[in-house]
Amino acid sequence: MKILFVAGDPKPERWTVPIRELLPEAEVHVWDANGPAVDADYAIVWQPPAALFERETRLKAVFNLGAGIDGLLAVPNLPPHLPVVRLEDAGMSVQMAEYVLHQLLEASRGMETYREQQRQNVWKIHRPIKRSEWPVGVLGLGHIGKRVARTLADLDYRVNGWARSEHSLDQVTTYAGTDSLHGFLGATRVLVNTLPLTAETRDILDYRLFSQLMPGAVVINVGRGEHLVEEDLLRAIDEGQVARASLDVFRQEPLPADHPFWQRPEIAITPHISARTLRDATLAQITAKIRAHHNGEPITGIVDTARGY
Ligand code: GLV
Repeated sequence: MKILFVAGDPKPERWTVPIRELLPEAEVHVWDANGPAVDADYAIVWQPPAALFERETRLKAVFNLGAGIDGLLAVPNLPPHLPVVRLEDAGMSVQMAEYVLHQLLEASRGMETYREQQRQNVWKIHRPIKRSEWPVGVLGLGHIGKRVARTLADLDYRVNGWARSEHSLDQVTTYAGTDSLHGFLGATRVLVNTLPLTAETRDILDYRLFSQLMPGAVVINVGRGEHLVEEDLLRAIDEGQVARASLDVFRQEPLPADHPFWQRPEIAITPHISARTLRDATLAQITAKIRAHHNGEPITGIVDTARGY
């Protein structure tokens, strides 16, 4: 069995050495833009070049080194029937839950106020949090959205979840489908976006959506930059409808140095770190699936490419 590793890591051996250990029966190659075809059976990829699918015509499946497969589906000549397998959790959901909790607490516990007081040697106690004033709405109820919703619900926040299809989750009020979006947004002060990026969800975080949230809303985007209409967020902040935004993903990454978001005290920026791809857990998952697929066993995480996730 031949495996081709195709990700722009300057040190691919960080991946290929453990892959060889986990799958000693495999021949492991690293993508070389100028090299010949290796006739790989499986490719392990992150945002691969289109040339991959021109050159490697014997692939049996492609494994994405991430949860979001928008970058892979955007490759123009991805063969339509080639199974695409996404990363399932692999330690990401817990990191996301932690990140979202942190960003929520910054707002609900007024942490910035206390940091500012410390800079001025001020001991002043503000009124305690009322959870009822911080209802959370989680957009997207996949592995990540569910974990985020459950974590916040366990801390007694009121949590609503919205997804395209029906879901049922303990302690979480769920909404399904476009018609229910308005009701979901109206009950939400802290909006957390964990949706996959598809044609339907691109630009979903726009001015119209922000206007339907409870006033003084908090927006936490851990999905994709393309979900957010950037100028609409700035307008909603200027008008006070959105009080604070925590953004981990951007239309252009790295975020350009002259981007207006950097200068806004209401916006907390992190460089796409809310859930890192953890190498050990990721490779354990992917190599186990490659072995199973090679042995003709069923595997989970195969993407519905028409649906986009
Ligand atoms: C990271 O953004 C991922 O999709 O896993």
